[in-house]
Amino acid sequence: MIKRKMFITLLALNCTWLMANPIDEMFDYYQQAGVTTVDSQKGRLLWTQAFITEKSNGEERSCASCHGSNVTQSGEHVRTSKVIEPMAKSINTKRYTDTKKIKKWFKRNCKWTLGRECSAQEQADILKYLITQ
Ligand code: HEC
Repeated sequence: MIKRKMFITLLALNCTWLMANPIDEMFDYYQQAGVTTVDSQKGRLLWTQAFITEKSNGEERSCASCHGSNVTQSGEHVRTSKVIEPMAKSINTKRYTDTKKIKKWFKRNCKWTLGRECSAQEQADILKYLITQ
């Protein structure tokens, strides 16, 4: 009987682990990195803020350069002209379902756009903005 109870408990634990939401995981991770408050409004401003980096040859870059400033609509890659599906979670449920993907693209796109990686605070604000659109 005890064995059976343990088995069921383990099964339940395992299920919660499997169902762990990648978005929650990202916010846990930001919290561990010292983020205490998250502000989607700041995220929205950062999304359209123009940056000129060492590598951009005077060209202004922003997240909106590829994703567009209206995240409920598709974007277009500024270099390849490929369509990029909407970033708003309400429109595109396939968004933010894989922490590896989220981390990879934050890293790559922040480097390209800002000329550096985004801080945990910046990422948290942006992600909050995107998931509430
Ligand atoms: C040069 C074009 C470009 C720019 C500029 C850009 N992105 Fe992206 N981004 C992409 C592409 C391409 C993908 C991968 C394809 C996809 O997910 O549709 C992507 C994917 C992402 C993802 C992954 C989303 C998911 O589904 O998990 C995040 C997060 C992201 N971008 C954030 C940003 C942020 C933040 C900025 C501004 C700092 C930014 N991007 C600027 C091209 C760009």
